[in-house]
Amino acid sequence: MELEKIIGICKQNLIGLKAEIQLITSAINSKIPVVIEGESGTGKTELGKTIAQALERPFYRVDGDENLTITHLRGWFDPPLVMKSGFGEKSYIPGPLVNAMRKGGLFFFNEVNRAPSESINGVLAALDERQIEVPQLGRIHAVEEFYSIFARNPLEYVGTNPLPEAFFDRCILIRLEHKTGDEAERIVRLRTNCTDSDLITKVILFTDRTRSSENFEVGASVRAAIQLTQLLKNSPRTPDIVFPAIYAVYSGKVKMQSDTVKTVENCLYEIAEPIFFPTDKKKL
Ligand SMILES: Nc1ncnc2c1ncn2[C@@H]1O[C@H](COP(=O)(O)OP(=O)(O)OP(=O)(O)O)[C@@H](O)[C@H]1O
Ligand SMILES: [Mg+2]
Repeated sequence: MELEKIIGICKQNLIGLKAEIQLITSAINSKIPVVIEGESGTGKTELGKTIAQALERPFYRVDGDENLTITHLRGWFDPPLVMKSGFGEKSYIPGPLVNAMRKGGLFFFNEVNRAPSESINGVLAALDERQIEVPQLGRIHAVEEFYSIFARNPLEYVGTNPLPEAFFDRCILIRLEHKTGDEAERIVRLRTNCTDSDLITKVILFTDRTRSSENFEVGASVRAAIQLTQLLKNSPRTPDIVFPAIYAVYSGKVKMQSDTVKTVENCLYEIAEPIFFPTDKKKL
């Protein structure tokens, strides 16, 4: 499919990201694997999913953690079926990697830096060699359209391994930043069908400010803005409704600076008050 057509399809579901879509599409055509790097809520999964849809390829997603072994990715044998018919296709439950290889899918490896290097290397080998060996089953060949996108969040260090050198040597890196202002408002409008521009502007301003606030080490993303808009779009905008909704959506998503003595609640309300309930003295 030509690039313009893919961009056209992606545009219906993605705000901005034209350069990124172009890069990924060219990378897919050249079979160069891509790592999408970005903080939580920057659109990594949505970008991968939308490109798979535009290319009309199935999308297989896995989330990396220490238990994601190469067996989970390749597939396994079902013991009762092995008892019945022995080792073979009939007793084999294919994992997402084998499914993607056979069906020409887009294999989306989320949080790749949390996965054991053995699993990452297994996927890289499948991409390089276009085949993998499954013990007791044999060689599985990838169809032409099989491709993999990796994603990682640079802020997530806990429980993560340094990625193998071979990884960056093979992949290209595409970085996504938080969308702010007008683009973020368009994302919220697209995801919530909310037509209240005043509400969306306030929610985005608030969300952007959680990221620039010196009280927070990590602020919130457009995902929080989408949720808050959904909660408030049909509700009265009084403090007894708005503040609890803000706390409910944002308190688990922001991370306080370690030297801040204030509570999360206080920090959130300090930012929210002049935006949602401005007085003459305290305007936006
Ligand atoms: N550019 C964009 N266009 C349209 N929607 C977007 C865009 N960026 C983010 N979104 C929306 O914001 C939300 C978060 O995006 P997404 O789940 O892709 O983030 P992520 O980077 O995968 O986050 P995480 O690291 O937490 O998995 C989703 O509802 C998604 O639809
Ligand atoms: Mg994601």
